[in-house]
Amino acid sequence: MDQYIIKGGKALAGEVCINGAKNAALGILAASVMTDDFVTIENLPDVRDINVLLQAMESIGAKVERVNRHTARICGGAITSVVVENEYIRRIRASYYLLGALLGKYKNARVSLPGGCDIGSRPIDQHIKGFEALGARVRIQHGMIEAEASRLAGNHIYLDMASVGATINIMLAAVLAEGQTIIENSAKEPHVVDIASFLNSMGAKIKGAGTDVIRIVGVPSLHGSTYSIIPDQIEAGTFMMAAAATRGDVTIRNVIPKHLEAISAKLVEIGAEVEEFDDAIRVVATKRLGHTQIKTLPYPGFPTDMQPQITALLAMCEGTSIVTESIYENRFKYVDELARMGTSIKVEGNNAIVNGVAELTGASVCAPDLRAGAALVIAGLVAEGYTTVEQIHYIERGYECFEQKMRELGADMEKVNSEDSKAIQKFKLKVG
Ligand code: EPZ
Repeated sequence: MDQYIIKGGKALAGEVCINGAKNAALGILAASVMTDDFVTIENLPDVRDINVLLQAMESIGAKVERVNRHTARICGGAITSVVVENEYIRRIRASYYLLGALLGKYKNARVSLPGGCDIGSRPIDQHIKGFEALGARVRIQHGMIEAEASRLAGNHIYLDMASVGATINIMLAAVLAEGQTIIENSAKEPHVVDIASFLNSMGAKIKGAGTDVIRIVGVPSLHGSTYSIIPDQIEAGTFMMAAAATRGDVTIRNVIPKHLEAISAKLVEIGAEVEEFDDAIRVVATKRLGHTQIKTLPYPGFPTDMQPQITALLAMCEGTSIVTESIYENRFKYVDELARMGTSIKVEGNNAIVNGVAELTGASVCAPDLRAGAALVIAGLVAEGYTTVEQIHYIERGYECFEQKMRELGADMEKVNSEDSKAIQKFKLKVG
């Protein structure tokens, strides 16, 4: 099994370039099969979740050509099946975007129901409510979710919570429904806007994405397009935290600073310097940073996908911080792993009381999920001595070349096979 080995203690410095947004790419890829024309998607991140979704699309007959590492040409015209039952697909939740896409295009879709998740139960009742409002019959049978309709007709849908996935899925089905759909209390995340922009580039008529009311006027068909995905807000935020935690000086390129405002504001509040440029952001920390209170909220609030990374940072800052998780019921599982490195964090319900400690020590830890894995790496970059992070397949779901990018910023970090004692020894000899 691959693992990261890290020797902590180096301040990160230099420049890092951010890849395309994984969560936007997942929706955009699903949407790309809604036309029979060829679609070219640029700035695709080369990460596991994206590659699994592309395989699933191929398994139903879609043509997928990898033009280069970050560009794919896709044609949904060759689709022969609306049943997506790839053995891996249930491991990525966003596979359910194929449900909205295929239901919209073919009025019929069957997709493996995504499995459980380490960050808490993640129901899809709002997706189902939306599809039903458009006229679909939805059933869950034999581990599959099935949606079918003789015709889809626009409707007025009020979401009980501003769910990112439900907003995107309903939008996908509604662009090819007859008449107008209004989604109220829709999610406003940057990737919701990006997916709407992509659909509009294919001829859809969507207005209001990025606000809490989205209006869609159905069109009979969509056409081909070439589209470049926005930069990944969470990858950028993760490097911002790593820069601050290591008391480094890092310029993060290919970002949209507006999408990072909630993250930048917290870093400034605890004493880091954050400088914004047109498409870059520089984070500098020259001293031990201070404490704060954070509550995760839907965009433009502080993102839940940055909660583990900022908690890792606060665990080494001065004073006591409170981190409140309001999106997921169980997103503090990594705290026990961080504790192995000497942190002092007490979880009470949805709150983590983080007592900053002056020093962390390297340990062997295990990534319980994607963002928590990134948080453990950040702690490892600071901890005295060696840290090994296991289960890095979670991290590779969402971060491209994570160890390479960290190394380019000066970190002592490598991916090694846990059985390969020679490689581990070689790393230790190299970094001293
Ligand atoms: C998206 O998940 C992201 N995934 C998640 O990123 C992210 O954590 C989340 O949005 C919140 O920002 C993708 O975009 C692929 P939601 P999603 O529907 O769409 C409840 C990462 O690390 N809910 O906005 O599944 C739900 O249980 C991942 O990259 C219902 O109750 O999130 C949760 O508590 C992890 N019923 C809350 O709403 C529903 O029908 C928000 O979920 C739908 C959601």
